[in-house]
Amino acid sequence: MKITILGAYQTKFGELWDKSLKDLSSEAAFGAVEDAGVLFKDIQTAYFGNKMSPQITGQNHVGSLLAEILGTDIPITRIEAACASGGSAVRQACMAIESGQYETALVLGAEKMTDLAISEISVGLMGAASEQERESGLSFVGLYALMARKYFDKYGAGEKDLAAIAVKNHFHGSLNPKAQFPFVLTIDQVMASSMVADPLKLLDCSPITDGAAGLVLASEKYAKKLGSKKPVIIASKQASDTLSLSKRKDLTSLAGAEKAAGEAYRQAGVEAKDIEFAEVHDCFTIAEAMALEDLGFCKKGEGYIAVGKGKTRLGGERAINLSGGLKACGHPVGATGVKQLVEVYSQMMGRAGKRQTKKNKLALTHNIGGTGGTAVVHIVRSAKCKAQSEKSKKE
Ligand code: COA
Repeated sequence: MKITILGAYQTKFGELWDKSLKDLSSEAAFGAVEDAGVLFKDIQTAYFGNKMSPQITGQNHVGSLLAEILGTDIPITRIEAACASGGSAVRQACMAIESGQYETALVLGAEKMTDLAISEISVGLMGAASEQERESGLSFVGLYALMARKYFDKYGAGEKDLAAIAVKNHFHGSLNPKAQFPFVLTIDQVMASSMVADPLKLLDCSPITDGAAGLVLASEKYAKKLGSKKPVIIASKQASDTLSLSKRKDLTSLAGAEKAAGEAYRQAGVEAKDIEFAEVHDCFTIAEAMALEDLGFCKKGEGYIAVGKGKTRLGGERAINLSGGLKACGHPVGATGVKQLVEVYSQMMGRAGKRQTKKNKLALTHNIGGTGGTAVVHIVRSAKCKAQSEKSKKE
């Protein structure tokens, strides 16, 4: 697979009282097209990652809403895959281009979450969990807390180990002006924050966020015509798992993420050790520890150790979540998977400012829906990274 990222844009993430879903979508879509250096009439199709608009605003038909905003009649398809809606929308666009039907596609991820009370938002988010989980009064914090307890029992990790993940992501977020929480935290602050679902505290959680992100994707042929030297998506894979945690064999790993990652490595012709930096789905701190293991960056039970040793910090062995991740950058659910690729693009284009990594040639994004019922993995190489492109296999 060779799909060029021609343009990318992220709005500020946060509690944006003065911005509607329409405003955010418009800013991200026009921003991505402008960055791509193409005209709007050159965009042939669009995919819109959005989970919560029907629950929050009663607006189901967001594809047409986007058409109205953009003044276009191209086909626009809404993709819903819980918190992996954005990643899944990117994958649909990649496949549409790979099929040969289109040369260009716009991907938009947008969510407006802060207009409702936390109780209502939590109910809306739990639409991505099973009926049994909803009826037993669990929230997503509760579900991931169950996984954290299992992980602690199995591997001997503790609350401070998870706090180190939040501290690292807030450090990266403090260098990102688009982040919802651009400030540093200490382990003591995380440990002292209020308990939400034992052992996860307020500062172990991703927040409720408004925001949008956009990408313009193009076929290799189209990008060549433009003389593009922009990053290229060389693998796009998605896998599923049971909706209910109770039906899983193991609560300390997300099987869907392992499968999607394995397939993505094969498609790209690379191995986990080749990946230089990654954006992973840290909806809760425990999720990042598991992600590092599911992606093959660490052995089972050693994800939290790598974070504690500073290996995943800017300047470390493999920087993880340079954007600040979901924890500090924010988590507007339908936008997150798109934003992860915007961050990879910014890093590869050398535009990441104070959080710029020098190791920026080969990256991975990992976007999870619910407790892992959907997992999407993308692998991206920079224009400078020729070795992997030649090895890249067609699957
Ligand atoms: N990280 C850092 N600070 C946070 C925060 C977070 N995750 N969430 C809230 N804050 C801050 C707020 O800015 C606020 O600060 P202020 O008093 O200075 O304004 C303070 O903490 C209290 O915030 P509040 O909005 O009252 O928190 P809340 O109790 O309504 O919500 C959570 C906190 C953790 C319950 C909520 O963010 C949540 O449910 N997160 C998980 C979302 C989720 O499940 N997503 C899907 C994942 S699969």
